Amino acid sequence: MLDSKIQNALNEQVNAEMFSAYLYLAMVAYFNDLGLSGFAVWMTSQAQEEMVHAMKFFNYIVERGGRIELLQIEKPQAEWDSPIAAFQDAYKHEQYITGRINDLVNLAIEIKDHATNQMLQWFVEEQVEEEASADEVVQKLAYVQDAPGGIYMIDKELGARVPLFTMPVRE
Ligand code: FEO
Repeated sequence: MLDSKIQNALNEQVNAEMFSAYLYLAMVAYFNDLGLSGFAVWMTSQAQEEMVHAMKFFNYIVERGGRIELLQIEKPQAEWDSPIAAFQDAYKHEQYITGRINDLVNLAIEIKDHATNQMLQWFVEEQVEEEASADEVVQKLAYVQDAPGGIYMIDKELGARVPLFTMPVRE
């Protein structure tokens, strides 16, 4: 049985992961508008990962006999000034999510919920990768500084990311 405090916090995390998917889908739309289909493919995969994260929390709550409460998903930002501005926001957002995961771990330890603490360790590790992959693209974009040739090359590279599952992607 889940403690009500951790149950509420985990339900809020389902919402935060779904919002992450929304935010990255907004970036997919933004990149498609710019004609950067490789960036859009990369962000589609990222959004898919967030849906998987949300379902991991969802399934864990169910498995522990908890009660799911689906909260309203906030409307994400839709426009950015440049590809690097979007990726900087993605990186910042991942840092925010890392902070949330750390808070969840602290709460699990505080109430001596070892099972939840253990489940969260997967996310602790995942967030290292999540931050690193967004930051890597920020660094590359900073390096090419809006030069069309550089953006084109990064677009090609990002377009090679293999999606988790098949979804319609605008080519
Ligand atoms: Fe679910 Fe990108 O953290």
